[in-house]
Amino acid sequence: MPAQLITRCLEAARLAPSGTNCQPWKFLVVRSAEKRRALMDAAFGQPMFDQAPVVVVLLGDTKMYRKRFRTGQELIEVGAIVREDADKALAAYKEMKPDEDDAAAIARNCMIAGQNLILEATDLGLGSCWVMLFKHEKVVELFGLPKNLLPVALIPLGHPDQDPPPRPRYPLSEVAFDESPDRPWITPPDRGT
Ligand SMILES: Cc1cc2nc3c(=O)[nH]c(=O)nc-3n(C[C@H](O)[C@H](O)[C@H](O)COP(=O)(O)O)c2cc1C
Repeated sequence: MPAQLITRCLEAARLAPSGTNCQPWKFLVVRSAEKRRALMDAAFGQPMFDQAPVVVVLLGDTKMYRKRFRTGQELIEVGAIVREDADKALAAYKEMKPDEDDAAAIARNCMIAGQNLILEATDLGLGSCWVMLFKHEKVVELFGLPKNLLPVALIPLGHPDQDPPPRPRYPLSEVAFDESPDRPWITPPDRGT
């Protein structure tokens, strides 16, 4: 696969939003057949690692996440937010006392970057797959990852050789609501206005 296509996907991922703009992600591009096979082993033998020429290992970076109050300050400096609003957000954050650990918060941000990557890949005509079923410790060992880099997902990329029908989705009337969770969202008839 041309490296330019991979760069397009990585660029789309890099532009993802993140809380306080902390950007707690790293993208490790893996093309060697040997490493992809090792990733397949880590992922319980899922075959796409052998078939797809590229795998992007999506990593969460705890160092970047811990800098989030500093990146919040940078947002003030570039005029993206005013200090008063930043102070209010910080007070709200403290009151919320999020009970999740850092890894969960980091993964939440990284998933948006991964979705950007997948949407760009789809737009370029590439096939991809989210893979979260894998042994994290095997991936850490394979690449000798430092402590601050946490595997979040594996994303194989390639030229699709299949065109499967879309997987079913629940209808909008079951998942979208209008003002109250017992009132399904119903689209009014289009009167052409
Ligand atoms: C968080 C997450 C984890 C997933 N993990 C795997 C996985 O380990 N292996 C796999 O083959 N597919 C995995 N998938 C793909 C889903 O099975 C797939 O997205 C879903 O069935 C909907 O199909 P579609 O993406 O073709 O619309 C994962 C998807 C998500 C969003």
